[in-house]
Amino acid sequence: MSQSVLFVCLGNICRSPLAEAALRRECAASELTVIIDSAGTGDWHVGQPPDERAQATAARNGLDIGHLRARQVTGSDFHDFDHIIALDNQNLRDLTTMRPMKAVAKLSLLFDHVAGRAGEDVADPFYGEVEDFDQTCAEVTEAATTIRKLLEASQGEPI
Ligand code: 4NP
Repeated sequence: MSQSVLFVCLGNICRSPLAEAALRRECAASELTVIIDSAGTGDWHVGQPPDERAQATAARNGLDIGHLRARQVTGSDFHDFDHIIALDNQNLRDLTTMRPMKAVAKLSLLFDHVAGRAGEDVADPFYGEVEDFDQTCAEVTEAATTIRKLLEASQGEPI
């Protein structure tokens, strides 16, 4: 049974494309069939590739995100995805506000899937330095491992 996961940040050019790529790599090495995508709550960067600094940290960590293009989260995403995972608490609040009444998707915070980090934000690296992008990449890579394990354990049940 396939499951689907949508990662959501603000601009869909830094954090969520890295999370998407990290979970893709995790799942490629497993038996899981998972549909993985990412989106932003904002529309400023729609159609654009990820931030060059995010592409560079991805490449340093063996991930390729250059083909991804930013899009804004839509109401249908709440029906099309089993899981929508917010990168920070503001993203989660915005998603909760726009969540349709009969949504299928289970909303969660990325770090709620990582032991000892519940409730924490993946900090926005957009106004930061190279090191901030590397930290983002390390954080979403760690989370991707635990999310992949949860998906394997749930066998299609909500995580
Ligand atoms: P992201 O980072 O949400 O991780 O993609 C940002 C990208 C763009 C902006 C803010 C955060 N912005 O204000 O344009």
